[in-house]
Amino acid sequence: MAPLSIAIDGPAACGKSSLAKALARRIGLYHLETGGLYRSVALFFLERGGPTDDPHRILDLLPEMDLSIRPDGSSSREIHFFLGDRDVTVDIRSETVGKWASTVATIPAVRTYLLPVQRHFAENDRIVMDGRDIGTVILPDASLKIFLSAPAATRALRRWLQLGGENAPQSLQEIQDDLEERDRQDLARSIAPLTRASDAIDLDNSRMTIDESVDWVIERLPK
Ligand code: DC
Repeated sequence: MAPLSIAIDGPAACGKSSLAKALARRIGLYHLETGGLYRSVALFFLERGGPTDDPHRILDLLPEMDLSIRPDGSSSREIHFFLGDRDVTVDIRSETVGKWASTVATIPAVRTYLLPVQRHFAENDRIVMDGRDIGTVILPDASLKIFLSAPAATRALRRWLQLGGENAPQSLQEIQDDLEERDRQDLARSIAPLTRASDAIDLDNSRMTIDESVDWVIERLPK
């Protein structure tokens, strides 16, 4: 029987990574934040001087990219991202890399390249993955699928607080505008757009704590 796998999909900054991380800790699963893969491709592209007016040039660079994922070795069971031997898990967090990740994610060859990287882990270990197409494309047979949502204003506020509130490099309104633009791009792309799997369970956890959200998911795990 395949190991337990949980898919959490939802729009940018809806809290899926925080939920997945807390769930992984609570019940002992690996956690793969799949956006990190698209972010790693974007970082590689930007650092190699990929022309920002032609994202498709990433296709010329893909054969030279040595992208891998490895557990960080701690009890948190987070999966880290590597370009060659360099751990890029922190470097990929910037807003610029995030925007570029959304762009490279529209390129079919990039998604095809990243598919086996994601599936391989789920074949061998208990895992929770969060992203946009986990329940629909990456793990169509996941043990449990959650579709997480929250209004754009709530998501923008969370991101703004994460970035330091009053000290954040962008205003709350700018963050909300960026999020809405990213949502449009993620929803509109023709390949693997953000979609709710037909067998996913909806969760709007805007008014729940992380612990309450984790309890909610655990109650719905197959017995
Ligand atoms: O979740 P995030 O912000 O780190 O994701 C960065 C971008 O990667 C996001 O705008 C869309 C893309 N992405 C995707 O297309 N499919 C996924 N499973 C995860 C992320």
